[in-house]
Amino acid sequence: MKITVVGTGYVGLVVGTCMADMGHDVVCVDNDAQKINGLIHGKVPIYEPGLDQLIERNVREGRLAFTTSLGEALGVSTVVFVAVGTPSLPDGHADLRGVFGVADEISRHARSRVTFIIKSTVPVGTADKVRAHLRELMGEVPFDVVSNPEFLKEGAALDDFLRPDRIVIGLKDPATQEIMDELYAPLVRTGKPILYMDNRSAEMCKYTANAFLATKISFINEIARLCDLVGADVDHVRRGAGTDSRIGQRFFFPGVGYGGSCFPKDVRALVHTARDVGMELRVVAAVEEVNEQQKHRLAELVEARFGTDLSGLRLAVWGLAFKPETDDMREAPSLVIIDRLLQAGASVTVYDPEAMHEAKKALGDRVTWADRAMNAVDGADALLLVTEWNEFRSPDFMSVRGRMRSPVVFDGRNIWKPADLRAKGFEYRCIGRP
Ligand SMILES: NC(=O)c1ccc[n+]([C@@H]2O[C@H](COP(=O)([O-])OP(=O)(O)OC[C@H]3O[C@@H](n4cnc5c(N)ncnc54)[C@H](O)[C@@H]3O)[C@@H](O)[C@H]2O)c1
Repeated sequence: MKITVVGTGYVGLVVGTCMADMGHDVVCVDNDAQKINGLIHGKVPIYEPGLDQLIERNVREGRLAFTTSLGEALGVSTVVFVAVGTPSLPDGHADLRGVFGVADEISRHARSRVTFIIKSTVPVGTADKVRAHLRELMGEVPFDVVSNPEFLKEGAALDDFLRPDRIVIGLKDPATQEIMDELYAPLVRTGKPILYMDNRSAEMCKYTANAFLATKISFINEIARLCDLVGADVDHVRRGAGTDSRIGQRFFFPGVGYGGSCFPKDVRALVHTARDVGMELRVVAAVEEVNEQQKHRLAELVEARFGTDLSGLRLAVWGLAFKPETDDMREAPSLVIIDRLLQAGASVTVYDPEAMHEAKKALGDRVTWADRAMNAVDGADALLLVTEWNEFRSPDFMSVRGRMRSPVVFDGRNIWKPADLRAKGFEYRCIGRP
């Protein structure tokens, strides 16, 4: 099949590349000329494990191309995945200007039947609004609007897209179902379902999934705070509770709070969707509140140890991305933590294996940039572990201690064992463990 994908970010680039790898002819479109120019010259704009090799192979084999011209792409295919960003507006609603902008542009260029597949995460009712909008603009040209939310995780995006737990599709026109069946047939051979439903239910599926996962994280973060106060170990507690198959161990780890381009904005957007129809989503609103508080937890531990005036202290931070295996810095808790440390007067040296170029846009010269993890700890009064990249899991602690001015460690992800670190001469603090 011939496919157009609009938006070459973390989702669009993965969808387009994987579709090409399954044998489809794909044109990826973005209005960021620099991004497209880079892609045409083999430069992949994001870090996602395995993606650059897959792009390179499919470009070489002629199945994957890039352009800034949606009109040009529509000349080849009017089956269009829309994967543009839908960030939060200042009031918390999702910004849908990208999605409607694509609809406007499609209506100017399309001459034959359009399948407008919304991959972006959009609030319930958006597909209906896009349908009404296109009806006004498209004249005689037929079209359908499909809601096909994406559930991939950054850092494991290729695997998630190619081996989904399920594919959710909301649509109206039964003829469109044939197109969707053909697109996704290779991904459901293992028996995983394609769940067909109406557009509104499909849109709600995505927000329900993200809000629930965010709830698990805020829930265990709050339990970790209680463990701190009552002298229990959250590591035992999360296992003791999470091994119950009704609860599950995944997304059940305390830490520095969730971040990224999805959970924060989707939780906020869902709260606003409910308010717009006169309902207060109390659980989901509390999830966000707890998360905002949790982003301060590590800095609070530093202040409990060193006092609220951190002037003269040199702090090392390992990990900046909102999670490992991505360079995505959107709403990363590291930014909140570092901001608070700087405001308290500390000087901060940071290291991240992949996210430093992105982080520099937010942090600039307010911090010192280390080129290696070990160099970040030179002369440090304390080390803060913020993102649990694999390379931080078993560092040479003797060397770390030798380089630090004082061997104090704050482990924001509970990746190290308290007894081990103490045996190696560190003063060790973490989240919810004595
Ligand atoms: N990142 C994730 O892990 C993830 C997972 C599931 C769903 N989603 C959802 O998918 C959508 C995209 O997310 P992302 O992380 O890939 O965003 P992103 O910001 O990385 O990429 C969006 C891209 O769209 C382009 N764009 C914006 N408006 C455009 C237009 N009118 N025409 C052409 N290109 C345009 C931007 O230049 C950018 O390259 C969002 O709605 C997000 O909530 C994201």
